[in-house]
Amino acid sequence: MELGLQDKVVIITGAASGIGRASLRAFAAEGARVLAVDINAAQLAAAVEELPAARVKAHAADVTDADQVQTMVAHAVASFGRLDVMFSNAGGAIPTPTEQQGLADYRRIMALNLDAVYYAVHAALPVMLAQGSGCFLSTSSGAGMNAATGLAVYGAAKAGVISLMRSIATEYGGRGIRANTIAPGPMDTPPVRAWLGTFDDGLARFARQVPSGRLGTGEDIARAAVFLASDAAEFINGAAVPVDGAVHARLASPQID
Ligand SMILES: NC(=O)c1ccc[n+]([C@@H]2O[C@H](COP(=O)([O-])OP(=O)(O)OC[C@H]3O[C@@H](n4cnc5c(N)ncnc54)[C@H](O)[C@@H]3O)[C@@H](O)[C@H]2O)c1
Repeated sequence: MELGLQDKVVIITGAASGIGRASLRAFAAEGARVLAVDINAAQLAAAVEELPAARVKAHAADVTDADQVQTMVAHAVASFGRLDVMFSNAGGAIPTPTEQQGLADYRRIMALNLDAVYYAVHAALPVMLAQGSGCFLSTSSGAGMNAATGLAVYGAAKAGVISLMRSIATEYGGRGIRANTIAPGPMDTPPVRAWLGTFDDGLARFARQVPSGRLGTGEDIARAAVFLASDAAEFINGAAVPVDGAVHARLASPQID
């Protein structure tokens, strides 16, 4: 299948680690030109170093700062001449029982997981409308589709991302714009590994709850991202796609230990 990503210009946020880093490799392998964005400049440099310098550029930025997001989009356009895919992937949770969640953490979680996605829409939409084409892709979460203990604020932010992408798809689908969301399930990425380490047998217990029998990988999500951003997905618009080994499809059952 021809994906049509050769030479497409893609911004990926959170590109230094986990899902973003796997996506950076996957888009580069398809011949896309990528502005790789992360707040962690050193880790970002290491991620970009292994990829062709003419096609992949590092851009250190804090996506919770609207001015830095404007500069990020301007840098992609100045470097590569256009912007085809805005992949807002940077994000993260602060798992906390809701009654203990402070307001400062509430604001931090919203800023990273929802405000930043809107800032990217605000900055990139005029560029894409002028081109008559463009694709927004955002990493939501299973916690944005269903509820998870200790993730009330994160889940609200990630549900907001799904709603925002649907609105963009609906409002601008007739002007060549697509906007979709990926909702990863339980993932084997650095922050989750660290969190699972705080529970007895956390990794194995978590994996047993996934019908497909394992945690997801960055590559699982990256393959979905590449497809959704590609011309092969031109009629997929406003979708929230779970990539979670069927976690979203499972009902509670006494047969699950
Ligand atoms: N890991 C999971 O289980 C899981 C599940 C569902 C959804 N997600 C979502 O997937 C996305 C990627 O998560 P991951 O697991 O790959 O995490 P990760 O921590 O491995 O990668 C996140 C990257 O985002 C960067 N980042 C953080 N704050 C930033 C900021 N203000 N500006 C720019 N970059 C910033 C970090 O430096 C890091 O490199 C996030 O949106 C997360 O919420 C993850």
